[in-house]
Amino acid sequence: MTEEILELLMHRNATLVEQAMRDCYTEDDDLQSLLDAERYSLFAGGKRIRPLLTMEFCRMFGGEEAAALPFACAVEMIHTYSLIHDDLPCMDDDDLRRGKPTNHKVFGESTALLAGDSLLTGAFEVAASNTVAGPEIASKAVAYLANCAGRYGMIGGQIMDLAGEKKKLTLDQLLKLHSMKTGALISAASVMGALAAGVDLTDPRMADVVTYAENIGLAFQIVDDILDCTGTAEELGKNVGVDAEHQKNTFTSFYTVEEAQFYADRLTEEAIAAIRSYRDSDALCSLAKWLATRKK
Ligand code: IPE
Ligand code: IPE
Ligand code: MG
Ligand code: MG
Ligand code: MG
Repeated sequence: MTEEILELLMHRNATLVEQAMRDCYTEDDDLQSLLDAERYSLFAGGKRIRPLLTMEFCRMFGGEEAAALPFACAVEMIHTYSLIHDDLPCMDDDDLRRGKPTNHKVFGESTALLAGDSLLTGAFEVAASNTVAGPEIASKAVAYLANCAGRYGMIGGQIMDLAGEKKKLTLDQLLKLHSMKTGALISAASVMGALAAGVDLTDPRMADVVTYAENIGLAFQIVDDILDCTGTAEELGKNVGVDAEHQKNTFTSFYTVEEAQFYADRLTEEAIAAIRSYRDSDALCSLAKWLATRKK
């Protein structure tokens, strides 16, 4: 698949997911600041990579788009909440996200905190209410998502990230941190897509989904570290040098940018190898390559 076609697919998918996420909201004058804060970050121009994985894995296994859509929304809502909280003064203390002031800069810390909480809770409501996939699949997806977003997944990774400030981690610890803080949610996105198509967690095909996801997940965070330290992030409207300022353990503190990119490329090849033999895996193979060379 050419990059142009992949980007068209990404755009089409983002439109679909964004509409479904908008539909989760009804206006309430008394809650305006909360709803505005949630939607400020939810519709701030994210790449929508995680919901794309959900939709594409469902398509690859011949599932119905409508069965994957609530899971796609849920994972993007969790991702958005994680970024709002990640940017807070008590976390990475960032002023900019996607070229715009961070949520707490616009709405204040307490509203930003609650907007994150509300997105997290709302995500599970949306996923659990997936009537197209049905209650059996929905309950498996919700449990998987909760596991990946929680203490043994993203939150665990975030605490390792904070604990590692001013302390040098080993490479193994850094790999674990990256897999948890970023890889876990990418795995959840992928697995929920396959579940929506009726592939069970015990199905051998699911192991290929997980192999793909774990490899692109790690590559994704390596590329994020590269972008954060090369100044490319500045063009994206992110604060550059925040990782260095906080003395974070990043891939680029272990490797040169070239070595880190080489590592990410190798992981990408492994990801592609896991799914390439499936019919209709073209989009996901192209996506893996796009992510490894992304500039945003
Ligand atoms: C950024 O994720 C945070 C990480 C987990 C590295 P994305 O790069 O997917 O963020 P958006 O949603 O596209 O802005
Ligand atoms: C964020 O990691 C991962 C999350 C779970 C939110 P980073 O702190 O590296 O993400 P950026 O660089 O702020 O986007
Ligand atoms: Mg962080
Ligand atoms: Mg951060
Ligand atoms: Mg980063």
